[in-house]
Parts: sequence; structure tokens; C-alpha cells
Amino acid sequence: MKWSRESWREFNIKQQPTYPDMNQLKVVEKELNNFPPLVFAGEVRKLKEELAKVGRGEAFLLQGGDCAESFSEFNADNIKDMFKVMMQMAVVLTFAGGCPVVKVGRLAGQFAKPRSSDFEEIDGVSLPSYRGDIINDNEFTSDSRIPDPHRMTKAYNQSSGTMNLLRAFARGGMADLHKVHKWNLDFVKEGKLGEKYQNLADKITETLEFMEACGITSVNTPTINETTLYTSHEALLMNYEEALTREDSLTGDWYDCSAHMLWIGDRTRDVNDAHVEFLRGVKNPIGIKAGPTMTAEGLIELIEKVNPKNEEGRLNIIVRMGAQKIENEFPKLVQAVKKHGKNVVWSIDPMHGNTIKTSNNYKTREFKEILREVKGFFRVHKEEGTFPGGVHLEMTGQDVTECTGGYKDLTEKDLEDRYHTHCDPRLNADQALELAFLIAESLKEARNDRKER
Ligand code: PEP
Ligand code: CO
Repeated sequence: MKWSRESWREFNIKQQPTYPDMNQLKVVEKELNNFPPLVFAGEVRKLKEELAKVGRGEAFLLQGGDCAESFSEFNADNIKDMFKVMMQMAVVLTFAGGCPVVKVGRLAGQFAKPRSSDFEEIDGVSLPSYRGDIINDNEFTSDSRIPDPHRMTKAYNQSSGTMNLLRAFARGGMADLHKVHKWNLDFVKEGKLGEKYQNLADKITETLEFMEACGITSVNTPTINETTLYTSHEALLMNYEEALTREDSLTGDWYDCSAHMLWIGDRTRDVNDAHVEFLRGVKNPIGIKAGPTMTAEGLIELIEKVNPKNEEGRLNIIVRMGAQKIENEFPKLVQAVKKHGKNVVWSIDPMHGNTIKTSNNYKTREFKEILREVKGFFRVHKEEGTFPGGVHLEMTGQDVTECTGGYKDLTEKDLEDRYHTHCDPRLNADQALELAFLIAESLKEARNDRKER
């Protein structure tokens, strides 16, 4: 069937809001459709090339950010701190893994949320679920939960402001390797992790001095003080994605210009449904979440639909089985992909399969379970002789208390202190950096195995 920007409308669709006023919705869609794109097709093609390298085991993908961005927490400090922690993690991974790190934020558009239930019940009162700030409001009142299309405009404007600052940071000196020491967030400076990071930063300074003595400086080698941080989000709210999808004047191809990369969630990845239909037609790199219900045949069918030409860098399979299941459920997917000769980037989301409820009623994730799933992912790849391409994390640059464990050993009781997330529990900056150090060890090993092969 022929694809168009709106062909998804003919398909079965899950997880969409029901807007009370369809005329209002049309007005907003039209307005968004006239707004400038947030990313440019040339950048998207560059990301695809970089992901192709990841697929070949020549680079590593670091994807991370909020579970859900929110209107209330939109400010420069939050964006800056997220940027800093991503850069820190990237430097740890680059140094230990000895390979380039492709950095992709869950940022500047990560607003819409799939929900396990259409309704939320509190004290006997049942209201429509919160679906992310781009759709309705989290406050538990019936008015707040009514989907409002104008929220799409607000989300677009926020994304555009976020994007602008990120681009400024990436090119304006914030990513200068000479300043890695200064990226340190105040609360990471102290303690074991601060020291470990300091040691690494010192080594980098020494290396840069040596390079400079050899004539390699930021003047002749801009990669020393510039970087690229790509953006991504779950392509869930189709009205928004369609409105930002544009035909590239250079190639005539269609790109979803709301972000560089889009992914399909675990709940909306039915091969015959609207989300898959929409994303098969845009040229962006596409992620597909693979939870424990993903079968080998189902995955191959999805791959053939979304990437019929088997292009490198087009597809990222984001595995999220849970620490308990990964080693049983994941090998069959890797084997099927190998057998059919499909090009994919494998990454691990160790967050969504490891969510639990504490006795004091917080949704949380244990650091050790997150790490266990990551390690399981690397182990399976080692056994199958394939490359563990990347990680996909829910994290923040803030000092929140949402996930338990880590070297500071946050307890269930500690969650009561700074539990700020609008959706799922995120790693705080400390935990994210600690995880980066631990992943770096596995990455180093995987890179050595690859060299031996
Ligand atoms: C998410 O990434 O926030 C998410 C909802 O993931 P999944 O689709 O894997 O459950
Ligand atoms: Co989430």
C-alpha cells in the first residue's frame, strides 16, 4: 500500500487521546504544519551514518533522558545539567571503550506517554489517565485530564527552546574536552565517584597536552571542543508527528522533523497498526522497543516492514526484557536477526522491564537490577558473537531520589525526599555516571572480543 503522511489514519491505532473538539485539533495541526522543522534532514542522515557504524561495532550509542519532559520543569538549569551528565557519561564510555559515542537525548519532544490503563483510580474516583504534558495535565481533576490540542503547540515551543540551547552548548564551548573537569555537577564532585571521574579527567588533560605538543589542537581539530547531541522521542502522538513531517527538498524523501530519531513503544508496535505504518514511511532512524512478548518471527516481520532494503543505521532494536528475563528471551531474537542477515543496532533499555512498587507505594527501579540487565545484554552478545550497540536510559542531571541503590545506596525511605518524576523513576546524575563507569568495563571487553574476531 502506498505510504503518505496521513496513511496511518486508515489503520487501527492504540494509545491516542480523544479530543473533544475536532475543529480545534485541525486548527492546531495546520498551525504546527506551518512551523519550522526542529531538525534538518541533513542532520538526520548524519545520525543514520553514525548508527551504521554502531551496527558494525565501530561506535557505541548512548541514548538517555527523561521518561517524560514536563512544562513545569522547563528551565535552562535542567537542560544544562542533562547535557553535562550526558557529556560526562560519553567521555567515560569513549575513553574506556576506545570508540566514538553517538549521543542521543530523550529530549526536545519526549512528552507523550503510553499508559497501561485508560483510567486512573484514586480513593474510589476514576479519571482518564494522564498521557503526558503534550496531551493533558497530571493534576487529578476531571478538567485537567481533558486532552487539549493547544498543548501540542506549547510542547513544540518548549522543544524548540530546548533544541536551541542544546545546539548552543554543543557548538559554543560547553563540550570542550579541555573543560571536562568543569562539567562536574556539584553533588557528584564529592565522594568515590567524584574521585574516579577526576582521575579520568586528569588523564584526558594529559592526553590533550600531548596531542597539542604534536600539533593537534581545537583550532585544527574542532571535535576537541564541539560535539553533536541528537534528539529522539517516542513517536506516540500521531497528530503531532504528522504535522512535523516534511518532504526534504534535496532528496524528495519524507522526514519526521520533530526529532532526529523516533522510536515505537512496546505497546504500539503491532505490525498492522498505525504507528508502524507511519514510521515505515519516514527516513529517520527508527527505534523499536522489544519487551518480553516480542517473538523472533514478530521481530523479523517488523524489521522487514520498517527496513525493507535492510539499510544500515536505519533500525535500532531497543531491548527491554527485565533483568530476570533477558538471558532467556533475548538470544532467540539475536539468533533470528543473524540468521536472516538483518542489519540492526541492538541497544538495551534496562529501565522499563525493571519497574517495581515499594511498600511505601513508590514506583522505583533498583540500581542492581538495572546493571544486571545491562550485563545480561552484553553476555548474550558475547555468546552470539554480535555487538552490544548501546544503552537507552531514563535519567536526569538532577539529584533526585527515584531509583534505589547505587554507591550511595538509596533506600525505599530515601525515595520520599526528592521524587520528582512525572512518569517513571529516573537514575539521578550520580547513578547515571556510576552506571556509565560500569558499562565502560563491559564495553572495553566487548571491543577486545571484536578485535580478536
Ligand atoms: C518509555 O520509553 O518511556 C516507554 C514507555 O517504554 P516502553 O514502550 O518500552 O514501555
Ligand atoms: Co518510561
